[in-house]
Amino acid sequence: MSDPIPTPARSGPSGGTRYHIATWGCQMNLHDSEKLAGALEGLGYERAVDREDADVILLNTCSIREKAEEKVFDELGRLRPLKEARPGLVIGVCGCVAQHAGQAIFDRAPFVDLVVGARAMGSVAGTVSRLFSGDRSTRQFLDIAYRDDSIRFPHDQIARLGPNPAKAFVTIIEGCNHRCTYCIVPVTRGREICRPLEELLVEVRSLADRGVVEVEFLGQTVNAYRDAAGHTLGDLLCRTATTAGIRRMRFTTSHPAQMTSALIEAMARARPILCPYLHLPVQSGSTRVLGAMRRGYNREDYLRVIDSLRERVPGIRLGTDVIVGFPTETDQEFDESLSLLREVRFDTVYAFVYSPRAGTRAAEMAGALLIPTALARLKRLQDQQQAIQEELNATWVGQDVEVLVEGPSKRDPNRSSGRTPESRVVVFPGTVAPGSLIPVRIERATAYSLRGTPSGPALPMLPHAPYNLPSRPTL
Ligand code: 5AD
Ligand code: SF4
Repeated sequence: MSDPIPTPARSGPSGGTRYHIATWGCQMNLHDSEKLAGALEGLGYERAVDREDADVILLNTCSIREKAEEKVFDELGRLRPLKEARPGLVIGVCGCVAQHAGQAIFDRAPFVDLVVGARAMGSVAGTVSRLFSGDRSTRQFLDIAYRDDSIRFPHDQIARLGPNPAKAFVTIIEGCNHRCTYCIVPVTRGREICRPLEELLVEVRSLADRGVVEVEFLGQTVNAYRDAAGHTLGDLLCRTATTAGIRRMRFTTSHPAQMTSALIEAMARARPILCPYLHLPVQSGSTRVLGAMRRGYNREDYLRVIDSLRERVPGIRLGTDVIVGFPTETDQEFDESLSLLREVRFDTVYAFVYSPRAGTRAAEMAGALLIPTALARLKRLQDQQQAIQEELNATWVGQDVEVLVEGPSKRDPNRSSGRTPESRVVVFPGTVAPGSLIPVRIERATAYSLRGTPSGPALPMLPHAPYNLPSRPTL
């Protein structure tokens, strides 16, 4: 390649190199971006809000559906002129698309400097710094090894970037040992690996000392968590529930086949610190389709888990994911998904049209549906679910709820927005500092959010000590 060796093109407020990370996908990806940011800040780089101001642009990507993957290539198309105008700009593709597409990214976008997979993110900061020091051998650097970099990242070097400083993610398990036939995650995230319970408790303690009141434990199959000493998610929930300062905890995403009665008992014991909301992807209401998906449970098994959750954790609210238009799904089988949603009455449903992913078993299956058929099913499902959510949310009107404030409402900066323990979004007038807890009386409800007025004073969060150490990460 004949273009110049990249050098920092612009300076930050204090003269430093500036980075910008764009993130797609799930909470795990958001949290990985916080680790990438921590690693770059450990090198002394500063955050650039706008990518135009950055010397390094990283795209932390998602490949769960084709649309998500295509968005990355669209974005690269937009970045090309920036790179042409400023050849010193460093552009990296990280995360699941990097792991899945690897070298093909350089083939489609040769101006990209580094491609680093989700399990290999530890090499990003060092590579970026070598590029800036003029090391030509790192050009088109590709690292898609299956290591444990993300899960081993030192927790005290994570840059906590979320809008709400009183809430933090904690990765407890990464990867997935299931082989659902539609899913690319086992390829992008590799096999399951768990962090030791004691290490997790140290992280939770230190978060609480910094004013964090809500922790969310993360994993692709979070309820498969079991450390080398045999500790389970239930153990973690019970120990965290007694950590002074922690007022709320959540965990996501759970697999229905691993919702054991021991875990449900632990959830009951960990109330009220454990938030009464669980996301439990069902994917389909049809036992035949669940078999073709290799989900490892049938419709009745799933409904039994829901019954037992509702019995042991009174007041628990539920969310789910559904795939419509899986290969060979008939109208009757789709109706079974609709009837399951009517039976359970979830508070939140994420519904997706099936998207074939290269390298998965379902992508090879016969019986693909026509796109208009799948889209019509999606619309029916969404209409039904909207009506259910309107009814469920209306039951909150007149009640006082506790809201953990996330920040100004996106639609109206004179309003604040936050979540209840049941994960309902609440919008209320006034600007209350993110991280505060405030009681709100609900006055109006739509299918997607609640509106109300504060019914008491806000409890501001504790002073928040800076989280990032100035030292260089050890990765
Ligand atoms: N097509 C459509 N949706 C998918 N999901 C996972 N893989 C696919 C796919 N190939 C959905 C599942 C999962 C959620 C994160 O994304 O519902 O729970
Ligand atoms: Fe994908 Fe299934 Fe693993 Fe979830 S459990 S990440 S859907 S393979």
